[in-house]
Amino acid sequence: MPFYQRRGEVPRKRHVQFRESGTLLTEEVMGLEGFTGNESILYHLHSPCRVMELAGFEPIARDEWLPEQHAHRHFKTFETSPEGDEITGRRLLMWNADVEISLCRPAASMDYWYRNGEGDEVIFVHEGSGTLETIFGDLPYAEGDYVVVPRGATCRFRPAERPQRYLVFETPGLIEIPRRYRNQYGQLMEGAPYYHRDIHPPAELRTVRERGEFPVKVRVRDGYQTYVVDYHPFDVVGWDGYLYPWTFSIHDFEPITGRIHQPPPSHQTFQGQNFVICSFCPRKLDFDPEAVPIPYHHSNLQSEEMIYYVSGNFGSRKGVEVGSITLHPSGLPHGPQPGLAEAAIGMHETHELAVMCDTFQPLKLTTFARDLDDGRYMYSWYENAQADGPGDGDDASGAGLTSHL
Ligand SMILES: [Fe+2]
Repeated sequence: MPFYQRRGEVPRKRHVQFRESGTLLTEEVMGLEGFTGNESILYHLHSPCRVMELAGFEPIARDEWLPEQHAHRHFKTFETSPEGDEITGRRLLMWNADVEISLCRPAASMDYWYRNGEGDEVIFVHEGSGTLETIFGDLPYAEGDYVVVPRGATCRFRPAERPQRYLVFETPGLIEIPRRYRNQYGQLMEGAPYYHRDIHPPAELRTVRERGEFPVKVRVRDGYQTYVVDYHPFDVVGWDGYLYPWTFSIHDFEPITGRIHQPPPSHQTFQGQNFVICSFCPRKLDFDPEAVPIPYHHSNLQSEEMIYYVSGNFGSRKGVEVGSITLHPSGLPHGPQPGLAEAAIGMHETHELAVMCDTFQPLKLTTFARDLDDGRYMYSWYENAQADGPGDGDDASGAGLTSHL
């Protein structure tokens, strides 16, 4: 998506004969918005329509939890057990019509290929590294990477080691670089928190000529349809265009800081359909002598806010730990816990790393989320007020101030 790329062999012009050993290759235009949006053109050894067996269809089941009370929530995900693979192991936490947010701790390797046929995906790699093998080529990934996979990209995870731990976003919309970061030609502007050099397309195209029986699981019509094809799905000899998977490391996000507090949009990393994904990275805090370097209380009247805590010292939130997720739903204000604003004054930096997703429509919760809910977080402002006198300071240490809560 970010800029033009080319891998392997492509003919001199579009839509002309392109042969290998005398055989006409199959040209596929994979594009958005009915031939007017971004596209890539792929050259296959075989027709991408060729199916030898139509296997099963598995509908997606979402086990909804309808809490009896509306409240702030804290889900502890770190100790969940690995299960499934990089696709079947995705355990849905919360969702709406725009985005599904899942935790994935795969235990097994995929013995099939996968394609999201009806949505884009962002996989945030909290732990682990490996290669996402794709029809566009091999895409190495490492801890801290956002792996952005557009719809239509057949792929297979090949983890280098275990454990692997991902936070997965799936959307029927597009995952895009925020519009305000790009000029009218698409180039990332000065002032954007990342640049094209931080975006990593597939490193290498590998054309696989193997024949046999290859299952391809396609997410489509709210389920997974498996097709068996008689050629390896990575049969592309070349492609070019603007549509392909890519990675961006959260560690390459350049934080924007200010003399007084910067609002969450300064941390925006991606834009989605009615949601945003933001990266909260280690950085210097607000430097005005009068500044309160943690956020003011706020009511995002049209948003739900999910924050996933990746690493750092979360001393500013009692009980919040690595792998915690807080959910501040719409309709309620939220802000720092008692004593913290006072304690933060004079602090100069934060070392915390977190991923936030703000949605513009309410999120539904699953029974999986229910089982991880600590059941106490909604009282934490009250309990902390009881435990610590005003200005008591909690356990803020200079490195533990989540700059957005
Ligand atoms: Fe917030």
